[in-house]
Amino acid sequence: MNPDKQDKNAYTGKASGRQCWESPSNIALVKYWGKYPGQIPMNPSLSFVLKESVIRICIDYDIKPEYSFKLTGFKLNGQQNEGFARRIESFLTGIQTHFLFLKHARLKITSESTFPHSAGIASSAAAFSALALCLCSIEAKQLGTNTKNREFLQKASFVSRLGSGSACRSLYDGMVLWGESEFIHESSDEYAVRLDNERVHSDFYTLRDAILIIDDGTKPVSSSEGHALMHQHPFREVRKQQAHGNLKKLLLALSGGNKKLFCEIVENEALSLHSLMMSSNPGYLLMKPNTIHAIDVIRRFRVSTNIPLCFTLDAGPNIHLIHFEEDRQAVRELVQNELKDFCKEGKWIDDSMGNGPKQF
Ligand code: PMV
Repeated sequence: MNPDKQDKNAYTGKASGRQCWESPSNIALVKYWGKYPGQIPMNPSLSFVLKESVIRICIDYDIKPEYSFKLTGFKLNGQQNEGFARRIESFLTGIQTHFLFLKHARLKITSESTFPHSAGIASSAAAFSALALCLCSIEAKQLGTNTKNREFLQKASFVSRLGSGSACRSLYDGMVLWGESEFIHESSDEYAVRLDNERVHSDFYTLRDAILIIDDGTKPVSSSEGHALMHQHPFREVRKQQAHGNLKKLLLALSGGNKKLFCEIVENEALSLHSLMMSSNPGYLLMKPNTIHAIDVIRRFRVSTNIPLCFTLDAGPNIHLIHFEEDRQAVRELVQNELKDFCKEGKWIDDSMGNGPKQF
């Protein structure tokens, strides 16, 4: 299927207006690490979207046949952000073949996020998915097409991927898979798909994520640099096999409601991701001493209480403490009593599985 098929008739006449979307960050359980040209992932990944960690983006657009594309303004949380504006401008320039109106559009973008940018919480996933949704809505308005159907979301996922790979997984509620896998026939390297409810035991519909902000500074090595280091990585092929194997086991854990297996795979993926960083050439570390202290506390707590909780990490030092709704109170106490001291200024986010993006 080509998610881009609407463009054949894309409207390029005069139009102006505003489209706004709120879109969430997502947390990967099986990690995407390494990519081929065109943002094609080296391995499939699986994630869920968050409820509180979101970005709200509005695009004011003015389209006239005599205009050439121009980003006339970009603000994040009320402020100019030149680095991010450049990234967005290059994304918008690169996707003009997917939205013919863009060549003749002047766009002003304003965005508000609920969490620190560039801190290893996938802010780019939220931002690029929100942007893609706004663009798809502008297009749908011009064409008079539906914004509620599968094609619309699939195109938004396809376009988000071109801005930031993991962004393509922010379009759906529930469990979301990106990357071809022999186990899910509708899976694709070009866009993400939502796992059918029959594949996920109801215990996993109410997952929670206590995000411990160990450090909210800018990362010394970006995800793009990390992905690039995978090309020459001595463990590249083994990693691909491992990810496919872990995905298979995670799908089994999700369908069978096996919380113990779920926790084992999630932690194995987090530690494998960071070992790939350490064993890259040059190697690097994104974990901080407090990341390790917190992991130690979490693992000891699990052993002593038998509560099924586990940690995961994205490309950064912050910990995502994944747990189930029924253990919410126990986890809150654990964070307040034992983990908060490892967090920068005691900061943590009490987040949970969300319902996906919303237009506003
Ligand atoms: O989407 P990117 O290029 O920012 O890469 C994100 C990679 C990880 O967050 C480390 C893993 C993942 O699957 O989200």
